[in-house]
Amino acid sequence: MARATPSRATDAPRDAIALLKQDHRMVEALFDEFEDAEEQEQSQLAERICNMLTVHAQIEEEILYPAAKEVFEDEEELDLVNEANVEHQSAKDLIAKIEGMTPDDEIFEATVKVLSEYIKHHVKEEEGELFPALKKTELDLKAMGQQLAERKFALMESMGIEEEVPPAPQRKKTASRKTKTSASKARQARAGSRSKSAKNSGRSARH
Ligand SMILES: [Fe+2]
Ligand SMILES: [Fe+2]
Repeated sequence: MARATPSRATDAPRDAIALLKQDHRMVEALFDEFEDAEEQEQSQLAERICNMLTVHAQIEEEILYPAAKEVFEDEEELDLVNEANVEHQSAKDLIAKIEGMTPDDEIFEATVKVLSEYIKHHVKEEEGELFPALKKTELDLKAMGQQLAERKFALMESMGIEEEVPPAPQRKKTASRKTKTSASKARQARAGSRSKSAKNSGRSARH
């Protein structure tokens, strides 16, 4: 069953950092949605978060981190990659726990919240330290962007998951309880745009 459109991987080429940052924004938006969601919606949102993070972590581990280790010479920069790998492992442990839970589990929401905080910290380090260090190297980030995109869509295809819709531009990631109304509106809009992807409908095949 074709779900994500594989050709998307080669559309609008972006450099590696732009692609990964967009993933970060998308997962942050999903965490925001989760925080405001009804219990019924939370299960599906948690699944989307876990899927997205699984693919994102894998493409970074397969492509970005090894390339970074090859070009970094500075000990501190190499440590950034080692720390990122360790943080991925901890995130994957939390993801596995969440995937084994249902929303009526007493610690379901708390575990997603901890994952959210964890990812926030990890993303801050990637965007604040690792990515800027990579930009200073000779790495061809454009070519790597293509490689990441192709691997990302291949993994999504094999997992049977769809591409997430990027969040509306300028949406503040700090939007939380105080902006519940706008968050709810955004959620509704996104839910509308994703209605074709109702998890078990199998109606999303397109070419
Ligand atoms: Fe990342
Ligand atoms: Fe990462």
